Amino acid sequence: MTNDTDNAPLEELRDKIFLIGFMGVGKTYWGKIWARQLDLDFYDLDEIIETAQGRSIASIFEKEGEAYFRNLETAALQNFGEKKNYLVACGGGVACFNDNIHWMNKNGTSVYLSASPQLILNRVLKEKIKRPLISKLNETELLVYIEQKLTEREPFYKQAKHRLTADRVDMYSLSKL
Ligand code: S3P
Repeated sequence: MTNDTDNAPLEELRDKIFLIGFMGVGKTYWGKIWARQLDLDFYDLDEIIETAQGRSIASIFEKEGEAYFRNLETAALQNFGEKKNYLVACGGGVACFNDNIHWMNKNGTSVYLSASPQLILNRVLKEKIKRPLISKLNETELLVYIEQKLTEREPFYKQAKHRLTADRVDMYSLSKL
């Protein structure tokens, strides 16, 4: 048996894009460019949560813990069920908890922006203070953490409908899928 979403035309699902991938791969940067290029509304899931909560992700993690944050991001993601014409840059963990990758694939089009551990390391080193999972790690520990987490998360990321490689994308990459 099929449901309404299974029968939705492909063009409709392409109007609902979830950009996923590890911290630092450029989801927000490219998401904004691709949304503009495809005439979609751009959203950043972390930003939605911070605005709704009136505090930073780091503070939510610190005061309430990770499980609480994961529930907030799942609720924020699934709010997109009713919306159309958007591209959402998802926080690095969203696709890997609460069966969210299946929800994304049922309700829209997921795109995995992938990168090597070394590229991720270079990108996040400067901004790690904003990211509670890595803020206390030194460079060596950080590379080990990235390699381990990436191995753990890739089985989820790889369930995305499309994959793009972060150091080989340009403003037209999404429209060419
Ligand atoms: C997280 C990634 C972050 C943010 C939070 C947790 C993760 O988003 O949601 O710090 O679990 O990978 P970015 O991928 O936008 O940095």
